[in-house]
Formats: sequence, structure tokens, C-alpha cells
Amino acid sequence: MRAVVYEGERRVAVREVEDAVVEEETDALVRITSSALCGTDLHMYDGRTGAEPGLVLGHEPLGVVEATGSAVTSVRPGDRVVLPTHLYCGTCPHCAQGLTAACSRVRPGGFGAAYGYAGMGPYRGAQAELLRVPFADANCVPLPGEPGDRFEDAFVLLADAFVTGWHATELAGVGPGDSVAVFGAGTVGLLAAHSALLRGAGEVYVVDHVPARLAVAAEFGAVAVDFTAGDPVEQIRVHRRARGLPPGEAGTGGVDRGIDAVGFQARDRADPAHENPAQVVDDLARLVNPTGSLGIAGVYAAKDLHPAAPAGHRDGSLRVPWAQLFDKGVRVGFGRTHDRRYTRLLRDLILDGRAHPERVVTHHGTLDDAPDFYATFDRREDGMVKAVLRP
Ligand SMILES: NC(=O)c1ccc[n+]([C@@H]2O[C@H](COP(=O)([O-])OP(=O)(O)OC[C@H]3O[C@@H](n4cnc5c(N)ncnc54)[C@H](O)[C@@H]3O)[C@@H](O)[C@H]2O)c1
Ligand SMILES: [Zn+2]
Ligand SMILES: [Zn+2]
Repeated sequence: MRAVVYEGERRVAVREVEDAVVEEETDALVRITSSALCGTDLHMYDGRTGAEPGLVLGHEPLGVVEATGSAVTSVRPGDRVVLPTHLYCGTCPHCAQGLTAACSRVRPGGFGAAYGYAGMGPYRGAQAELLRVPFADANCVPLPGEPGDRFEDAFVLLADAFVTGWHATELAGVGPGDSVAVFGAGTVGLLAAHSALLRGAGEVYVVDHVPARLAVAAEFGAVAVDFTAGDPVEQIRVHRRARGLPPGEAGTGGVDRGIDAVGFQARDRADPAHENPAQVVDDLARLVNPTGSLGIAGVYAAKDLHPAAPAGHRDGSLRVPWAQLFDKGVRVGFGRTHDRRYTRLLRDLILDGRAHPERVVTHHGTLDDAPDFYATFDRREDGMVKAVLRP
């Protein structure tokens, strides 16, 4: 089969690799119809996370079941399915609570696993013609329709991007009427903003510096904040004051909920050519209202292996304004999305025409386009927000 392979820092290639096959009786083999690129792939592409050359990339697969092992009962060849990024067993104590990203059986010597992801288990990636899906009864989420129909783009976002956006709003506890600030207008941030509005948030701000991405935020109904035009915390406070905060509510001129959809490769606002891994957390700590809450969905890597990694983050530790968070009584939630908690709910919002995550998809190509798409995405150029490969 053909697959997108990591070859070294800022180098991917399309190679012929050994076919994925059914290895265990609980496996399914899926023929991929759409497979998206993600900001997480860029952490590997940029040589930051210790990906080994030869790794088949990709963790956002949509496809059709090609074959199943003898113990699989819930899907059959021909079924259309989306596969959550963080694969899981379905029966361990964490999975039994729907906390699938922390599955305790799926990764020998650790917890949680993902396709095509350095340090997250032995599973090959999904930017390929075929994918082996372990624990198929748990991991195959059935979908209606036919490959290539009008839901193809929305459904591929159920693998990771939309569920992560939704998870970020869960971590932050977004509810009706809340004021929300989302840092990062990549797919995850945009779909966190969309999720917040679906959950009835009152005002949603999205902070970034890429104009094409901020334009998509506005299409979703959020207020776009360009951090190159000034301190985003101050810009949001000014905007909230301009709406007219009632007397006695001046102390709530920040936001009730904040979301980090950027992660450790955050740009330093004073010098956007450089990274500052604490930038977004610092901003959120200043912006959040007393007793508010934060959801940190951007990835913070356990080790940043790049020789040019910013000091203070090489070992995954970060200096954050702990006292400010304590003083305000802020709640902070972290981590990977428990995909399976949300896939059915979000699938049905798509089918009902309430959710339109497909608005973030800007580019389509075949596997052969992967090297160009990675380079363009890495530079956040050509208006690329989300690129989808159709093998
Ligand atoms: N928690 C999870 O389960 C999970 C799942 C998927 C992705 N992620 C992570 O979420 C993050 C976002 O993913 P994506 O696909 O949207 O990536 P992306 O790279 O497309 O988007 C990140 C955006 O952040 C912006 N940005 C950089 N510095 C900023 C700053 N200081 N303030 C505001 N914006 C800033 C960039 O311009 C970019 O538009 C990544 O870290 C990714 O690894 C987490
Ligand atoms: Zn992803
Ligand atoms: Zn499990």
C-alpha cells in the first residue's frame, strides 16, 4: 500500500510500505477514503517529538471496512466508519467510564495510544490506503451514507478535530451565556469556538495572527482578535467594556472560560518569529475572570527534542503564573480528548444540520500532495486551515 512516511525534520514522502492486514481476531482492516493533516502532525514534522524516520503518519481516518477478524461482531465489510484518533480497548476501567484517551490496555507500558504518533504506541498511521484497527468493535464508529457524499469532510473531523474542539469546551466547562476566549484559530480552536456557540455561549473570542484563519472564526460567529494588533487580553477587555458591562460587574471584564488550542509551539507575541511555550497560558491566566475555568487542549510534549527548543520546556516543564490562578480560584482541565464520549453526539449534530465543522476544510488532495501540504501547513500559508487527503 502507499502511505505518507516521516523521513526527518520537515521531510515527508509517499512510499510503498507493507500492507496493513488483520493481525488479531479483534481487528478490522479499513480502506481509507479521507485522512486529514493535524497540528499534532506538525509537532512531529518539525522534529520536536522524536518521531523515527519510517513512521507512517496520520491519525484522522475515515473509511470503509475492508475485512474483519473472526471475533468482530459490530461491523462488516462495506460499512462506513470513522476511527477515533486515540484508539482504546473499550473494556478497561478508564474505557468503561468513557475516558478512552487513558485506556490502560492499549499501549504496553503506558496508557492511551494513537495511530501514527511518536511515543503513543506501535500503531501505524492513517495517511495511507489501508489501516489496521485494533479492538474494532470499540473503535469503529458507524456512519450513514456513502464515501464522497456531502458529509465526507464533516465526518473525517469526527476522528479528532471536532471531538477535540468539543473536549476543550468540556475541560473549560463552557455553558449557556458564558464569555469564552479561544487561543489558536487552527482547526481545533475554530471547532472549539463552534462547539462553544453550539453549547449556548454568549460571546466567543478567537485569538490568532493568521488573517485567513481569523476570517473562518468570524464565519462561525466568533469575534476575531489579531494578536499582532496589540495585547489580546486588553483587546478582549476593551470589546467587553464596549458592550456595556452593568454596574458592579466590572470585575467580570475578562472571560468566564478560556481555551488553549495552541500548545507548546505557541508564538511569542513580542517576537512572533520565536516560540514561547508559556505565552498562551500566561495570557489566559491574566484574562480569565475570578472563579473562571480553563481548558488546555493544545499539546504540551513530554520532551522537546529539537536543538532550538525554547529553554524551560525541553523536559516538558513550564513556568506558569500559579499564584495568579490560585488567587482567582481558577479551575484548569488538561489533556487528550476522550473521543468516544463525543463522536455519536457530534455525528448526530452534523446529521441534524446543526453543526458544520466542514467549514474549516480548505484543501483536498491525494496522498501525492502530502509533501506540499505539510510544507504549506507548517508555514500556515495559502489560507490552509485543514487539509484532507483522499487516497
Ligand atoms: N488534546 C487533544 O486531544 C488534541 C487533539 C488534536 C490536536 N491537539 C493539539 O491542539 C493544538 C492545535 O491543533 P491545530 O490542528 O488546530 O493546529 P494548528 O497548528 O493548525 O493551529 C495552531 C494555531 O495557533 C496559532 N498560534 C500560535 N501562537 C499563538 C499565540 N501565542 N496566541 C494565539 N494563537 C497562536 C497559530 O497561528 C495557529 O493558527 C496542537 O497543539 C495540537 O497538537 C490536541
Ligand atoms: Zn489530529
Ligand atoms: Zn481501555
